[in-house]
Amino acid sequence: MKVDFLKAKILIVDDEQANIALLEDVLDSEGYTLFKSTVDSRKALDLYKEFGPDLVLLDLNMPHLDGFQVMEQLKEVEENSYAPILVLTAQSDRNSRLRALAAGARDYIEKPFDITEVTQRISNMLEIRLLHNQVRNQNQILEDKVKERTHELEETRQEAVLRLGRAAEYRDNETGMHVIRMSRLSANLAKKIGLTDDECQIMLQASPMHDVGKIGIPDEILLIPGKLNEKEWEIMRKHPEIGAEILSGSQSAVMKMAETIALSHQERWDGSGYPNNLKGEEIPLAGRIVAICDVFDALTSKRYYKEAFSIEKSMEIIEQGSGKDFEPRLVEAFKQALPEMIRIVKELPDNESANVLKVYRKNCSHNAA
Ligand SMILES: [Fe+2]
Ligand SMILES: [Fe+2]
Repeated sequence: MKVDFLKAKILIVDDEQANIALLEDVLDSEGYTLFKSTVDSRKALDLYKEFGPDLVLLDLNMPHLDGFQVMEQLKEVEENSYAPILVLTAQSDRNSRLRALAAGARDYIEKPFDITEVTQRISNMLEIRLLHNQVRNQNQILEDKVKERTHELEETRQEAVLRLGRAAEYRDNETGMHVIRMSRLSANLAKKIGLTDDECQIMLQASPMHDVGKIGIPDEILLIPGKLNEKEWEIMRKHPEIGAEILSGSQSAVMKMAETIALSHQERWDGSGYPNNLKGEEIPLAGRIVAICDVFDALTSKRYYKEAFSIEKSMEIIEQGSGKDFEPRLVEAFKQALPEMIRIVKELPDNESANVLKVYRKNCSHNAA
């Protein structure tokens, strides 16, 4: 690593103007150009903050604040960094010298100054300081790279999640916008009942996979127009368990919630749902939230077996289901948030040519509302 000393910034703090003048001369003749100085130690801290020196030449015996007090102040601003202090001290003053080194000074220059010694000590200090800066910058570059890679991985993961959700929806919903809308509705409802931002974000990403188990349902059953007979229903009712099985065993919070949602989104508040006939709060909250949002979106959109219902009609059906299909508290919260829910649904219409992935990415950065 090559180090350019002469671009280093040097701050001189000494109450005697003559000392400052001498040191400035030395620096000047060595080719340094960036230096500042003060005879008033009370100004040292502000100058330090504003100038950001690579090295401080600091006198110890000064009025107002002595060198030790200045070092205390600098320690606070340079907490995580290398404090580059070179103290200027009288040769006889052995105690102060030792005290200064203990207080954080890196080295000292004896008064009266020996010019060769001064320049040598300054360049030694700067070498260490500038190498230290380079290492720190290198670390920052590496850290940025790791952040960037993590972000890429996260995007890939989100995309995989969506594609999985779409794989199922393709089979009974052609545009794939349903999973995006219902996930936004679910995250918004979660927010309304007081879930944290993190939980809402996980809900947003996990809920598109609620019907992934439909991948395991044969077409001749999935695509039957009209009512299913008892035998066909029996097969159809397997989709939550198939979905949970597909999503099981992951360590990721999103996948874990997706598994919970896949398994429980067809349960009903009164215990009449499937696959486990869970009742009330036995049904995981995420499943209860998705149940209502999934149905609301299905009602308000056109499906191959039905026309879209109006918002009023859809809300009427949801409200009729309160206490039977859905948790009353959630129906109430959904009603309270209806203007936002309508906005979400309107913002994301079914559209053959929509780039679903693009919409989804935007959706994921939408922070759960
Ligand atoms: Fe389902
Ligand atoms: Fe759905």
